Amino acid sequence: MVAGNWKMNGSIESIKILLDGIKQGLGEVNNAEIIVCPSSIYLGEVHSQIKDTVISLGAQNVSEHASGAFTGEISVKMLKDYNCKYSIIGHSERRTLYSETDQLIAKKFVTLCEAHTIPIFCIGELLDEREAGKTEDIVGRQIDAVLDLADIFAFKNSVIAYEPVWAIGTGKTATPDQAQEVHSFIRKKLSVLDADIGEQVQILYGGSMNASNVAQLLSMPDIDGGLIGGASLKSADFLAICAAANAAAE
Ligand code: 13P
Repeated sequence: MVAGNWKMNGSIESIKILLDGIKQGLGEVNNAEIIVCPSSIYLGEVHSQIKDTVISLGAQNVSEHASGAFTGEISVKMLKDYNCKYSIIGHSERRTLYSETDQLIAKKFVTLCEAHTIPIFCIGELLDEREAGKTEDIVGRQIDAVLDLADIFAFKNSVIAYEPVWAIGTGKTATPDQAQEVHSFIRKKLSVLDADIGEQVQILYGGSMNASNVAQLLSMPDIDGGLIGGASLKSADFLAICAAANAAAE
């Protein structure tokens, strides 16, 4: 699985160019699921442009509420109007810049599951947390918040993205071994509660994944794909990542 998180980038014009490039180059990709997550204002536009392609649509966030007086928010029902199969939640930028808590993100997780929209649930540690040896405590705590509100079955068919915050947009990537260690921890944590769910949950790596490091990262046993920021904004780079994921899934 390769998901492009476009963050707050793009325009009607640039999105058309990007998608045309992706659509033209994606021909041979049939093993990996490809997802694009535009800014919410472009969901309708992208929805129309990827009709009749293998590309799936994801949002970058969702409200924990169903509807009502929540100015500026977007409900899961609205996402479903545009056939959003996925929504990112808990991105570190939402956690850090918009003070989203583990508990709020857990509510969003449950809201998505109840509406049969697949969460791409982002977790990850800050640099000082890694340096203090707290990586497993942090990602464990982030997962426990969901388990406190729901149960292990909420993770059935959901997607987890491990994104070490120090690797996001910095050009610094976790080494394949560093990433694998955390992915394996996450899978084992879920497997203790339900072996099947632990095995089938897709765990993506995010944090400066690009065309040159993707193959090595995806060669690790517990890395099932990538959540890509910067490199998802250029069709050639994104296609190279998709091709590598396709080859890894063969
Ligand atoms: P970069 O790929 O730009 O590091 O961003 C990763 C990310 O935040 C994806 O959600």
